[in-house]
Amino acid sequence: MKILGLNCGRNMGNSEILLKEALMAAAELGVEYEMIRLHDMNIKPCIGCNGCILSASRGGTGDCVALHDDDMDFFREKFLECDGIIISAPAFNNTAPGLFRLLGDRCGPAFDREMKRYAQARGANIDQRWYKPRVAAWIMVGGGPMSHLHTGLPLMFHFSKSVQARQVDRMAAPLCPAPGQVLMHPDYIERAAQLGRNLVSQMGKPENEVEWLGGDDYVCPHCRSTMLVIGQNNECRCATCGKPGHLAVDPEGHVIMEFDPDVIAVDDPEYRIKHFDSIIQRHEDFKEYIRENKEKFDRYRNFGTFTLPPR
Ligand SMILES: Cc1cc2nc3c(=O)[nH]c(=O)nc-3n(C[C@H](O)[C@H](O)[C@H](O)COP(=O)(O)O)c2cc1C
Repeated sequence: MKILGLNCGRNMGNSEILLKEALMAAAELGVEYEMIRLHDMNIKPCIGCNGCILSASRGGTGDCVALHDDDMDFFREKFLECDGIIISAPAFNNTAPGLFRLLGDRCGPAFDREMKRYAQARGANIDQRWYKPRVAAWIMVGGGPMSHLHTGLPLMFHFSKSVQARQVDRMAAPLCPAPGQVLMHPDYIERAAQLGRNLVSQMGKPENEVEWLGGDDYVCPHCRSTMLVIGQNNECRCATCGKPGHLAVDPEGHVIMEFDPDVIAVDDPEYRIKHFDSIIQRHEDFKEYIRENKEKFDRYRNFGTFTLPPR
């Protein structure tokens, strides 16, 4: 059993120290680990061509078809080898840093386990390690108080959604702007070690038996997000996974979110397959539309020119 530790912060910065603390605790329980740094990898940004999804519908593997000569093959291999992943990142602008988001984009459809099943069902030769049960835990460090980093951690769910890793734990370490400043907070260090132990305790379990050990400070019982979108008539929705529900008041007078148990979540395998089917269908509908509406594009093709930066 092996944990992949990804540091998205500075070399020997706060994210790295907490990641290493978690991995040390995991190693003490007999688990292997490997560490990589986001800043050591050259990851090209997704260009949004949808080629991965289209390839999966046509007998391809669903891997990226457009971008080559970067380190995504390296990252994919490291990911496929692991049974658990810990991602440790700083908060930038109240969320995970752009470079992590960029990696997340590349791991969207192209790392989607259900898209791999979809591709396999259409004849593609898929690496069977995509289907291993995996667990995940997140660490986020911030220079500011908690209110300056709380949108970052819940969004890390989207990484686990694609790869179908089960979230086990997450921790935040606010008030640490300088590299290594987490060492001033023994409670953060102990919490990181606990996160490592928590992850190990759930590794190798069947997916439906993996427990959430990250505390109860969430509003969405599905993805454990702390973020809510409130609509009209008490309707609400998890801002991370989109699960709908409504606001209610519990017997103690606390406002709570009640979910509709019949609506399946965005990371549900059944949902994922329907999602890919519907995207492919939309592409097909659009091909038909283009055949009959070629002239509509001319209006935009012929409008203006874009200013380029000087070279
Ligand atoms: C561009 C930039 C944006 C930042 N934005 C935030 C922020 O929104 N909230 C916060 O708490 N800290 C913010 N920080 C501070 C970092 O999260 C903090 O320094 C963290 O310890 C860096 O982690 P590292 O030591 O692992 O690199 C920002 C830092 C930089 C460089």
